[in-house]
Amino acid sequence: MRNQIFFILLLGLFVVSCKNQPKPEPQYIVSGEKWLDTEGNAINAHGGGILFHEGTYYWYGEFKGDSTYWNPKVPSWECYRTETGGVSCYSSKDLYNWTFEGIALKPNLNDTLSDLHPSHVLERPKVIYNDQTKKFVMWLHVDSHDYAKAAAGVAVSDTPNGEFQYLGSMRPNDAMSRDMTLFKDDDGTAYHVYSSEENRTLYISELTDDYLNHTGNFTRNFIDQSREAPAVFKRNNKYFILSSGCTAWDPNQAEYAVADAMLGEWTVMGNPCSGKDADITFYGQSTHVLPIQGQPDAYVAMFDQWKKTDLIDSRYIWLPIKFTSDTTIDIAWNEKWNIEEAFNKE
Ligand code: DGJ
Repeated sequence: MRNQIFFILLLGLFVVSCKNQPKPEPQYIVSGEKWLDTEGNAINAHGGGILFHEGTYYWYGEFKGDSTYWNPKVPSWECYRTETGGVSCYSSKDLYNWTFEGIALKPNLNDTLSDLHPSHVLERPKVIYNDQTKKFVMWLHVDSHDYAKAAAGVAVSDTPNGEFQYLGSMRPNDAMSRDMTLFKDDDGTAYHVYSSEENRTLYISELTDDYLNHTGNFTRNFIDQSREAPAVFKRNNKYFILSSGCTAWDPNQAEYAVADAMLGEWTVMGNPCSGKDADITFYGQSTHVLPIQGQPDAYVAMFDQWKKTDLIDSRYIWLPIKFTSDTTIDIAWNEKWNIEEAFNKE
């Protein structure tokens, strides 16, 4: 009997102490602020994208050097540059707390002719996982110091955080390739989407089954419309492309387009942004759209807010996408928001 009373008292205490447990503080996405990793260092992952793999999000981006300079050898536009530090990788379970996993694709410090030498351009790395080869495949924009090379590089790894092995670069389909993204469709077919023809036309090119080459099946889209910074996502069997205009590091108006098939035809829908500074994408430029795992209608649009004279200090803007119909979206400015609240209400 005494034992029973003791047990009931203990249970009561346990229930009371559980009730008094403080609820975890909500965490927020605060666009434009300096975002720190779990060690307190500024997150250095620009022009990046996020891969979800086995319960973890991996954020890959340009690891920029800490001094920005103007390249006088490019007189036609404001070519601000910084040394290339390879591709960084951060991991997170909750999209708020990011752990630095290291440099997943390392710069090549010794060979001045290597695409990965710090004096060259490395931009917009994206990674997808190949279910057949079990490899992580990275594509990236590689360029000469004056952006004349206009090529795509490819690297491969057995693990999400690298180290990726660089396989080389090419001009896919014999055409220029600069700003780019990757998209892996539900059936495993992957596409490389890149600004070509001096950035005037956006190419969508199917990748081979191992994702390491192009099949030769490609389409030219938005011909002579000068779109860059492409980000692709799919919802309810509709494909969406978010992109920017071409104004170097300066912001301009975003645009989105919708299609029934990845290779097109694409219908231009206009500017998806609304609210303060929506006409210049909130001072940002698209880089990726992240589908949140396990939540069918939860997509986060990711932008870079470039600081052209101090590129390493460029900031990140992440905003929830609202679907206003099967083919229309709204990306409203919100300087501070919580992922759970944004997508769980209704
Ligand atoms: C805009 C592109 O989207 C960036 O990735 C970078 O190439 C800058 N232009 C360079 O000005």
